[in-house]
Amino acid sequence: MNLKDLYIDFFKSKGHKQIPSAPIVPENDPSVLFNTAGMQPLIPYLMGESHPYGTRLCDYQKCLRTNDLDSIGDTTHHTFFEMLGNWSLGDYFKDESISWSFEFLTQVLHIPVERLGITIFAGNESIPFDEVSYNKWLELGILKDHIAKTVEDNFWIAGETGPCGADTEIFYFRSNDEIPKTFDPEDERWVEIWNNVFMEFYKDTDGTIRELPKKNVDTGMGVERTTAILEGVNDNYLSSIWKDVIDLIASLAHVSYAGNEKSIRIIADHIRTAVFISADPSGIKPSNTDQGYILRRLIRRAIRHAKALNIDLNSNFEEQIARKIIAKYQDYYPELKQNEEVVLEVLKNEKIKFNKTLEKGLKEFEKVASHDIDAQTAFKLYDTYGFPLELTIELAKEHHLKVDEEGFKERFKAHQELSRNSSGEKFKGGLAGNSEIETKYHTATHLLNAALKEVISKDIHQRGSNITIERMRFDFNCDHKLSEEEKEKVEALVNSWINEEIGVERLEMPKEEALKSGAECMFIEKYPDIVSVYKIGDVSKELCGGPHVKNTKELGHFKIIKEEASSAGIRRIKAILE
Ligand code: SER
Repeated sequence: MNLKDLYIDFFKSKGHKQIPSAPIVPENDPSVLFNTAGMQPLIPYLMGESHPYGTRLCDYQKCLRTNDLDSIGDTTHHTFFEMLGNWSLGDYFKDESISWSFEFLTQVLHIPVERLGITIFAGNESIPFDEVSYNKWLELGILKDHIAKTVEDNFWIAGETGPCGADTEIFYFRSNDEIPKTFDPEDERWVEIWNNVFMEFYKDTDGTIRELPKKNVDTGMGVERTTAILEGVNDNYLSSIWKDVIDLIASLAHVSYAGNEKSIRIIADHIRTAVFISADPSGIKPSNTDQGYILRRLIRRAIRHAKALNIDLNSNFEEQIARKIIAKYQDYYPELKQNEEVVLEVLKNEKIKFNKTLEKGLKEFEKVASHDIDAQTAFKLYDTYGFPLELTIELAKEHHLKVDEEGFKERFKAHQELSRNSSGEKFKGGLAGNSEIETKYHTATHLLNAALKEVISKDIHQRGSNITIERMRFDFNCDHKLSEEEKEKVEALVNSWINEEIGVERLEMPKEEALKSGAECMFIEKYPDIVSVYKIGDVSKELCGGPHVKNTKELGHFKIIKEEASSAGIRRIKAILE
């Protein structure tokens, strides 16, 4: 059995329900491009909302981090990775959490106790030393000198604001050297494998920390690292997760892995990530903005390294690698097989596009590579030859050269203004376009939200929204499929408000005041101190960046075209205005 199955079985035996992996592109949080941790899709529940699966949950979750793309190529970093997690939503706390982690590691994975090192929160002026965890680890048999206390590294929060708390991290001594008497978390032979966060606080934008309604546990274990450890390899890419992918790439390039590790790892990592992004239900395609740009960068970088290894770019090498990856993961992530053709097409199209200019671009680079790369060259490489800036920087580094990044950015901005490409706009207010029909859909979204509250339950809240010129999509928490009658009632109510010709007002007020007045809001921490609130008569009041119509009469006729499950406890409505 592999690690994922062992983990899920173990936590099921401790009363946990398995929840499915959320999409890699968050549907409900416009402020981040990708899910970076297993807990991210669970934020509303960590903040107190009740989860339809109960108070003990476990999963394996697709995660993606782009902050250290430069480190890819070493033995331990990956852009895409899987995280195992178990959660208590106001259920068990430190005692069980630590006991079960210990039991799983020592009884199920058979890791010797002496190989484990633990870090504990040392305490600061607002939160005391985590004595409970310390005593628990000692009681279980962890050596006293294998427990280290830190402040900075033992307080966990995803980003700047949100649910957070002290954590205890579990390290493994990954080396053939003699195990040191004293555990030193800074010693690289010790690698962190599991993190148990005791989420009992919430950090606000102004830095204040308050208690959450319930004490939660959030744990995360890296699948790649732990698998490598269990298999006794010092290079993650030599574990069973990667081995056959690495072998395939080496054979496509007619080289051995030894001596070509960096390029082979980059190709393996980036193609795996590209497979997972393009198979995600969000339907991301390579582009010059947001997630699409990350996807483009990853594919182009993989192709550049394939070329460096003399892999024939006109062959279907990318398809062979992608198919191998899909076959490895399809039992865990059915979307891979379902979207296999889309994935292969994304990879192939992007390869063909880039391949057209890659050769010429590399020649252009070589021409000027006797000195640092100026802004004009970097921009030409981007604009004419399709080199993402980061690729130019990487090439320059290999030649010990610098790139005028600031100059590039200025040119890039000027170019964007010229082409009126306002790519940065998307994430400002969470809403996409501003065309007349999209504006109408924004307003209809607020009406739908209000109607669901009135017809189904006042506890319904928005969990996601997406608007195109063709339709609106609205995700909300709800524990059941809507009946025909409920759908009709919701539709009728929205249409009655449209017919009432209600004026739409935009108000500005401090965030606190908006919340006190009961305005609806999805992610309060994402908004500035002064917020805009859209008010539709007595029907609806929501924090929102707009834009909206002036009067509901402009909307025409509202019609629900589909109601379906989106994920556990989340329903999705697609609707149109006729
Ligand atoms: N949220 C914590 C982490 O990502 C534990 O799951 O490490």
